[in-house]
Amino acid sequence: MNLTHPAWLNTLLAVALAMSACGGGGEPHTAALDEDGCALTDTAALAASQPSALCRGKAGFNDRQLLGLGGNGRACADCHSPADRFQLSPAKAQQRLATMMATGVDDPLFRPIDANDFRVLGAAARDFTNLTVNGLMRVTMPLPANVKLLDCGAAVPCPAAAQPTAETQADVWRAVPSILDARLTGPDGQAPAWPRGPNPSGGYQLDGRIDTLQAQALSALRSHAGTTVDAQPAFLDDLAAFQNAMFSSPGVKRLAAAMAASAPLPDPDPPLNALELLGKQVFNRACAQCHGNLGAHPSGSAPIRQGIAGTPTLLVRYHDILTACPRPVDTVNPPRFQFAPCSASQMANVRTYQITNSGTPPSGTACGGGAPQPPCVTRVTTSDPGRLLITGYPAAGGPGDIQKLDIPSLRGIAQTAPYFSNNTAATLEEMLEHYKQFFKRVQVQNPAAPLLTTQPGVTPPVVDRPFTDDETPALLAYLRKL
Ligand code: HEC
Ligand code: HEC
Repeated sequence: MNLTHPAWLNTLLAVALAMSACGGGGEPHTAALDEDGCALTDTAALAASQPSALCRGKAGFNDRQLLGLGGNGRACADCHSPADRFQLSPAKAQQRLATMMATGVDDPLFRPIDANDFRVLGAAARDFTNLTVNGLMRVTMPLPANVKLLDCGAAVPCPAAAQPTAETQADVWRAVPSILDARLTGPDGQAPAWPRGPNPSGGYQLDGRIDTLQAQALSALRSHAGTTVDAQPAFLDDLAAFQNAMFSSPGVKRLAAAMAASAPLPDPDPPLNALELLGKQVFNRACAQCHGNLGAHPSGSAPIRQGIAGTPTLLVRYHDILTACPRPVDTVNPPRFQFAPCSASQMANVRTYQITNSGTPPSGTACGGGAPQPPCVTRVTTSDPGRLLITGYPAAGGPGDIQKLDIPSLRGIAQTAPYFSNNTAATLEEMLEHYKQFFKRVQVQNPAAPLLTTQPGVTPPVVDRPFTDDETPALLAYLRKL
């Protein structure tokens, strides 16, 4: 998708900014309050006069100018759109691009850093396929010392002769998650903990790499909004105060209040009909071991604690549910599992990583057995290596951190399509079809299936079995109520 050269857009932007700076100065800003009790203004200069940290944070969240920080015209709200449950869908991005093209009014969502061809064309980049077709933004991560990118680009398979490149960072493309319920979805301090940090008990970002909303906002300002001066801690606190007050439903808001007051925890579900109640049972059996409805932490983003009654299996914090591209293909005919293949534009985001496992931390024990082992090399071809990019840890008798992501909360999920970290499921139905294949593969890989052991009569009925086709309507009905 090509854009006209951005230079004229920059001129337009300068004019628009100048106009907004001198317009509206005479408006009284004390009279009207919005639904959050904040003065009705989006002018950053007035933010300081807002009645509370929440309101200052709200103004900051929507502030494109970020005076004194040297940003690129983007507000948090450009990606986490308040009108769209604080997330971004590909349809919305496409619509915004069309509007910008038709009106000539700059939309800061479209900045070269998030164009596919940014690494090649820099400021002249203009291919917004990932943004408008997939709803994905560029997330750049420094490569751990023992991880290299290979020079085979997005080729699958990567030829055996491929060589490491000089790149010191990797780009992955990720969906914009909603910030609703952020109050509950950071580190929770609960078991099960992951054996390696950062944030062994969960965190912010799809890979859980950030521990506080303040640190998250600072990183977003630098990477997405291009600030050259770091925001003051008070500004970051205000942004956190705002996000901490945004909930997906009154039920979750009540839950958060009860947690803060150490009061008995209410079930955040709304009243459920018979079908939805059935769906909740199916959810607790097939989904809750990870999206822990029955866990110790009520956020729904912490897995069930290991070792509770009826849970014979070792449950872990971070998971690979095979959403990254390319996806495994069964070698047996007829196939025992069949994932939806990734589209060409998703496959364009694939790279091959070479991980040298030195046998010393952080890469850990070498492949093939317990330490000490001779050094060895692992290759992985994926659109998103997940926590591997934070830790460089490939394997200790297993795939280590490769493609491991944090478990998201599913509250309000019906209103935030598409789904998964790379937006590869357009609907709840497609999402469930992915899990159907995922569970089939789990059983192929591990017939003992510790993830989904069938346990007739076990109370509570947690780690149990996949949902059946018959149960899908009930499960969908419940998911729509979350
Ligand atoms: C260019 C688009 C963009 C902008 C602008 C942006 N974000 Fe984000 N945000 C993302 C993406 C993409 C992720 C997921 C990144 C990842 O997992 O690596 C994310 C993740 C988050 C998360 C983590 C949510 C979770 O469930 O873990 C929070 C909180 C957040 N952003 C807040 C902010 C704030 C506050 C600002 C403004 C200071 C901001 N974002 C600006 C795209 C954006
Ligand atoms: C083995 C652990 C595990 C199980 C079991 C599991 N999930 Fe997930 N789920 C995850 C992880 C990890 C992610 C994040 C991966 C991603 O988005 O690419 C995720 C993501 C999701 C998302 C996407 C959220 C979003 O905002 O895009 C939905 C929806 C979801 N799961 C629903 C379910 C349902 C329904 C079930 C039961 C049928 C289920 N999950 C079972 C671990 C699990």
